[in-house]
Amino acid sequence: MIDIIKTVAELEEHLSRPSAADIACMRRLEGDILILGASGKMGPSLARLCRRAADAAERTRRVISVSRHVVPEHGDQAISCDLLDRDSVAGLPDCPNVLYLAGRKFGSSGSPELTWAMNTIVPAIVAERFRKSRIVVFSTGNVYPPRDITGSGSSETDPTDPVGEYAQSCLGRERVFQYYSGRYGTSCLLFRLNYAVDLRYGVLVDIAVKVRAGEPVDLTVPAFNAIWQRDANSYALRSLEHCATPPLALNITGPETVTVRDAAEFFAARFKRPCHYRGVPGLKALLSDASASHRLLGPPEHSTEALMELVAAWVEAGGETLNKPTHFEVADGRF
Ligand SMILES: NC(=O)c1ccc[n+]([C@@H]2O[C@H](COP(=O)([O-])OP(=O)(O)OC[C@H]3O[C@@H](n4cnc5c(N)ncnc54)[C@H](OP(=O)(O)O)[C@@H]3O)[C@@H](O)[C@H]2O)c1
Repeated sequence: MIDIIKTVAELEEHLSRPSAADIACMRRLEGDILILGASGKMGPSLARLCRRAADAAERTRRVISVSRHVVPEHGDQAISCDLLDRDSVAGLPDCPNVLYLAGRKFGSSGSPELTWAMNTIVPAIVAERFRKSRIVVFSTGNVYPPRDITGSGSSETDPTDPVGEYAQSCLGRERVFQYYSGRYGTSCLLFRLNYAVDLRYGVLVDIAVKVRAGEPVDLTVPAFNAIWQRDANSYALRSLEHCATPPLALNITGPETVTVRDAAEFFAARFKRPCHYRGVPGLKALLSDASASHRLLGPPEHSTEALMELVAAWVEAGGETLNKPTHFEVADGRF
């Protein structure tokens, strides 16, 4: 069980706290770490976790953050670069370890061509440029079709069948990296993440905020999996050691399937508020079976129940939340 987190400073310390396994990984890993797409929701805490793990391992290495809008304080060096610009990418430093987070986010509206460019052309530019590196490619459980909520979630051996253009472009991202991995022998890992939970954003925060505001919670997509962002960061770092040719795919999320109704009722009880719902309760949801990653990298440190406690305390205390909805209620992969 984690102690209740009260301030942004405490939260950022938690999200970037390296585990013993992270530090041991840093002792083994050679070379600098380049984080592409480092200024979004996950990149800053991932950069800090890498920095702290490297320091604790007493290994000299640089953690370099790349995005269009630089966030200098999170790694050692921040480089502003538009990854759609091949010449700018050519000027990035060589790095044996690449964490690829760049993408156009789920829920972005309009310009589907930009989503496809970000999710397929940028991977081609990056895979060409960093063909000698090992690359952990952030992907999503959206590459699978929705599953019946009474069964187990999709596993890595199940066929992909993304619904809607956003999800299809994410599969495109995987396919491009797979293609270049075959062409150049580049070691990659496809990091299929479902719902990282910070306390400022994430599916649990979306539900908690609605319940607290007395707004209806949508039941169209009735269930989800989620993972504490610190656990996701830890898995991302340690996935560098499991990059392979052809790329290994790993589902990254918590072991529990949480129903939206159960989460809403948990927060309603905590806030002493009634629950309101909308939408026809669906029978299918994007659910992933992450047992392979738990066997390979160990289980997440924090259960979804512990995360719900943290989120409830944070939202109840009026903690800062970002206006970055997860769109957990969107069932058809539109954007
Ligand atoms: N967070 C989750 O729960 C979750 C779940 C499933 C999958 N994922 C995937 O995991 C990855 C990281 O997640 P996230 O939540 O941190 O994503 P995010 O908040 O959308 O961040 C995306 C990053 O990409 C950068 N970027 C966008 N266009 C760029 C360009 N042309 N050149 C350079 N950088 C560019 C953005 O920075 P600038 O705008 O400053 O350039 C930002 O740093 C994403 O690929 C996402 O699809 C996340």
